[in-house]
Amino acid sequence: MEHATRDAAVLLGQARRVVVFTGAGMSAESGVPTFRDALTGLWRRFDAQALATPEAFHDDPALVWGWYEWRRSAVRRARPNAGHRAVAAIEARIPDSVLITQNVDDLHERAGSAAPVHLHGSLFAPRCAACARPAPAPDGVAEEPADGRRVPPPRCGHCAGLVRPGVVWFGEALPQEALAAAVEAASACDLLITVGTSGLVYPAAEIPHLAARRGAAVIQVNPDETPLDRVADVNLRGPAAQALPALVEAAWGGTDLRAG
Ligand code: APR
Repeated sequence: MEHATRDAAVLLGQARRVVVFTGAGMSAESGVPTFRDALTGLWRRFDAQALATPEAFHDDPALVWGWYEWRRSAVRRARPNAGHRAVAAIEARIPDSVLITQNVDDLHERAGSAAPVHLHGSLFAPRCAACARPAPAPDGVAEEPADGRRVPPPRCGHCAGLVRPGVVWFGEALPQEALAAAVEAASACDLLITVGTSGLVYPAAEIPHLAARRGAAVIQVNPDETPLDRVADVNLRGPAAQALPALVEAAWGGTDLRAG
């Protein structure tokens, strides 16, 4: 076994309060493109960062809604990977664990994580852009909108305002409750495991720093270097779907997370 995995397993074996903090790399091996991957198909001429803004929705709601419907359909077709299952296994083993994710997919939930804190919202929780009431997510999403990439958003059942994706766009504040829960968990944990995040997008990226300042050990899972390398006590340089099951196996043994 690699040194780093053994060191990380010792930290995990001793931990009583764990925070797992995940980003797009967590879902990469499930086939969900990371935000910074080039867009494909009908969307290849577009820039994800330019579509994920309140201004873009204001200027062209059907274009932005269509893009999120396309992303939602991609997530529906994807399946949780062994990394998601390893996170659920950590939560099952250490009841005082909190899962904080920047991902807007539902793969953690589908792998068995009961209540991830969604710092950047969810593809499955649309709301009215005018009155903020939750709106149902349409089902039966087509792979690509039949008549091009534009899909007009539904109207709110209460005020007839436009329904928008329930995600946090660039320039918007994080949901207060989620941010408060994340800050509280990061302040109180004794181990934080950061997985598949570039650590570049604030304020979310502050979470591992906060845990470290409060004395928690930090394990990072990422195949590449990130600004969080300096914060981490142990860097597991590998993809989440391999490194996390290996960590769980090294800490407690006997857990087969490959199937299912
Ligand atoms: N396993 C683990 N990490 C991986 C894997 C993998 N298989 N594949 C890629 N990575 C790492 C990359 O090396 C990178 O550091 O995942 C990270 C993905 O970084 P970003 O695309 O910046 O994703 P994230 O950190 O989640 O972005 C934060 O910014 O795009 C917005 O709102 C969006 O929530 C997102 C936020």
